[in-house]
Amino acid sequence: MEGCAALRCALLCATLLLLYTGQEAAAITVVSNSSVDFLVGRNISLSISYTSNQYAVVTWNKDGSMLVTWYKNIIASSPTLQGRADIIGNGSLLIYNSAKSDSGNYSVSVAPPGDLTGSLSFRVNIYDPVTNVSVSQSPAAVDETSPAVNLSCSASSGGMTYTWMREGQSLVINGSYVTLDGGRILQINHPNRTHSGNYSCNVSNPVSWGDAMRFLNISFSDPSTSSLSGGAIAGIVIGAVGGVILLIALIIIVVFCVRKRHRAEREKKPAAPHKDAIRTVSGTTLSPDDPAYFTMNNIMYRSSSISMGSYIMNNGDNTSDYFRNPSPNPPPNPPKVKHATQV
Ligand SMILES: *[C@@H]1O[C@H](CO)[C@@H](O)[C@H](O)[C@H]1NC(C)=O
Ligand SMILES: *[C@@H]1O[C@H](CO)[C@@H](O)[C@H](O)[C@H]1NC(C)=O
Ligand SMILES: *[C@@H]1O[C@H](CO)[C@@H](O)[C@H](O)[C@H]1NC(C)=O
Ligand SMILES: *[C@@H]1O[C@H](CO)[C@@H](O)[C@H](O)[C@H]1NC(C)=O
Ligand SMILES: *[C@@H]1O[C@H](CO)[C@@H](O)[C@H](O)[C@H]1NC(C)=O
Ligand SMILES: *[C@@H]1O[C@H](CO)[C@@H](O)[C@H](O)[C@H]1NC(C)=O
Ligand SMILES: *[C@@H]1O[C@H](CO)[C@@H](O)[C@H](O)[C@H]1NC(C)=O
Ligand SMILES: *[C@@H]1O[C@H](CO)[C@@H](O)[C@H](O)[C@H]1NC(C)=O
Ligand SMILES: *[C@@H]1O[C@H](CO)[C@@H](O)[C@H](O)[C@H]1NC(C)=O
Ligand SMILES: *[C@@H]1O[C@H](CO)[C@@H](O)[C@H](O)[C@H]1NC(C)=O
Ligand SMILES: *[C@@H]1O[C@H](CO)[C@@H](O)[C@H](O)[C@H]1NC(C)=O
Repeated sequence: MEGCAALRCALLCATLLLLYTGQEAAAITVVSNSSVDFLVGRNISLSISYTSNQYAVVTWNKDGSMLVTWYKNIIASSPTLQGRADIIGNGSLLIYNSAKSDSGNYSVSVAPPGDLTGSLSFRVNIYDPVTNVSVSQSPAAVDETSPAVNLSCSASSGGMTYTWMREGQSLVINGSYVTLDGGRILQINHPNRTHSGNYSCNVSNPVSWGDAMRFLNISFSDPSTSSLSGGAIAGIVIGAVGGVILLIALIIIVVFCVRKRHRAEREKKPAAPHKDAIRTVSGTTLSPDDPAYFTMNNIMYRSSSISMGSYIMNNGDNTSDYFRNPSPNPPPNPPKVKHATQV
């Protein structure tokens, strides 16, 4: 066992010796605590740190192209930066007035003379600020019969991520709620009154955000409280007017008919000054208060409404009392019958 351990130690030592031949130190480690997301127009600092007991050659590249080479001072600088770059400390990069085009894959290598080169790569993103957030609605007027309503969120710049809230609470996107176009559109299917409320959209990117709110009104008709619809009111008005017109027409027709009948009656008996004026009963003239009764077609009538027929003359009592209370013993003789004709 001890021999074995000695052999292992010898092998390890040989390997280490081999590795260190011609090299005085291990490759240096480069770290960065910098953020990699920046707002356009800002001065951005890509700070690095490493441990070295001597100055190193520090080279910054972006997307494979050299930006700056530094050794104690800037040795070379890419014309694309137009003098906006600087090195601070022992190799941290500073870019003034950053532009969207400064986004990209950055890498930095640190090469102390005679030492292994250390390097670090990361992505840098430059974002526009989120501006002019607004929420629009389509269609503009919605009620409970509408199939869907869209709330669309837009920003003039910087929009990346869209989140929706309702009455300050984050919205669970399920059921009636659907998001479209990367979250920019909140579609509400089969909206009802419970979907009315304040909806806000938060547009953001890692360094900027903005929001806007809109009140969505899903209108509805409540038969118990609402007034009648325009159509119902129109129907009622038309019905009432039609009824009045019908009534007037009916009155006109009735008046016309009555007048026509009067005229016809007047023409029928133009010579009769009074219907009870002249009567002849079998050659005898009856006066209007003649207490005569008559039968016509076996119906008994008072004389005043007759123009022609047989008048039954009762014996003695010819008053109406006689007929209301007929005597228990009917008169033995049959009533006399007169024949009368009204002229
Ligand atoms: C990063 O580290 C440097 C020193 O190495 C320090 O000055 C700077 O404030 C740090 N930045 C952040 C964002 O922590
Ligand atoms: C960027 O740095 C320059 C020079 O130090 C300074 O004049 C300018 O105000 C800085 N700009 C911002 C946005 O910090
Ligand atoms: C830069 O490196 C040199 C040499 O290693 C060292 O003396 C100096 O303190 C370092 N400067 C900073 C700011 O780290
Ligand atoms: C930057 O790196 C990512 C992966 O790290 C890669 O997908 C992308 O194509 C690179 N961009 C450029 C411009 O090289
Ligand atoms: C809502 O937006 C989607 C996607 O743009 C569209 O297809 C749909 O017609 C819109 N609906 C309404 C009611 O505007
Ligand atoms: C915001 O929107 C208004 C009208 O839509 C427009 O006039 C204005 O220029 C926009 N502002 C920005 C910063 O885009
Ligand atoms: C929507 O999601 C919530 C929470 O996840 C759940 O309680 C609710 O039942 C869901 N509604 C529908 C219609 O899926
Ligand atoms: C309104 O719609 C929601 C979701 O579709 C549904 O759960 C609710 O019962 C509806 N309410 C009414 C009053 O129709
Ligand atoms: C919606 O927001 C407006 C303005 O902040 C507020 O006056 C209104 O009461 C809100 N409506 C609801 C239903 O919360
Ligand atoms: C909007 O979203 C951003 C990014 O998620 C967040 O930092 C911010 O607090 C949100 N604003 C509101 C009002 O919720
Ligand atoms: C919603 O719309 C209806 C019909 O247009 C209207 O009568 C009602 O006042 C509106 N509600 C609000 C809170 O604006």
